[in-house]
Amino acid sequence: MVAKLAVDLLAEKTVPEILSLVAREIETTLGHVAFSPVKVENNESCKASILAPLAVHPEHQQKKVGSRLIESGMKKLKEAGGNIVFVYGDPEFYGKFGFDADTANDFPAPYSLEYPFGWQALILKDWSDKTTPAATSCVSALSDPDLW
Ligand SMILES: CC(C)(COP(=O)(O)OP(=O)(O)OC[C@H]1O[C@@H](n2cnc3c(N)ncnc32)[C@H](O)[C@@H]1OP(=O)(O)O)[C@@H](O)C(=O)NCCC(=O)NCCS
Repeated sequence: MVAKLAVDLLAEKTVPEILSLVAREIETTLGHVAFSPVKVENNESCKASILAPLAVHPEHQQKKVGSRLIESGMKKLKEAGGNIVFVYGDPEFYGKFGFDADTANDFPAPYSLEYPFGWQALILKDWSDKTTPAATSCVSALSDPDLW
């Protein structure tokens, strides 16, 4: 499911483009992360993204590969003027990078969630027309209620 999602995302043309990062060591792919654009209703100036999917090869987990993929992605988004990044995942893991559920509460997820506590966000930079609560919507590859 994660691999199919990554393939579907990479095939999709979006504005702005999906940010896709691969961690490699010589010929070996260690992990991958994608950040795709999110639309935040009534917040026209807000540049929002969602981190999904993230996967590290089982033989290379627990070696900070996932951390480095997240940190470089967030750095690139910040440099590009990004305002907020969403994620739907384990708070114990994503909390380490500053994501939290309180921040995401103002921006309901696009679908009803199996694990509502997993919907988290991190603000990179505030934006001028911030209006909450504001609904969110994702690119086509993530617009499948079964993923949520
Ligand atoms: C979750 C995943 C991406 C983590 O990648 P990783 O490279 O192994 O993680 P890191 O080595 O960077 O770990 C960073 C920290 O998170 C912790 N951590 C790792 N996986 C964790 C998990 N699943 N839950 C909670 N904490 C986790 C590590 O122990 C480490 O803690 P520390 O900073 O206190 O030492 C990886 O295990 C994976 O691909 N899992 C399968 C797919 C998946 O679950 N993707 C996430 C979907 S939301």
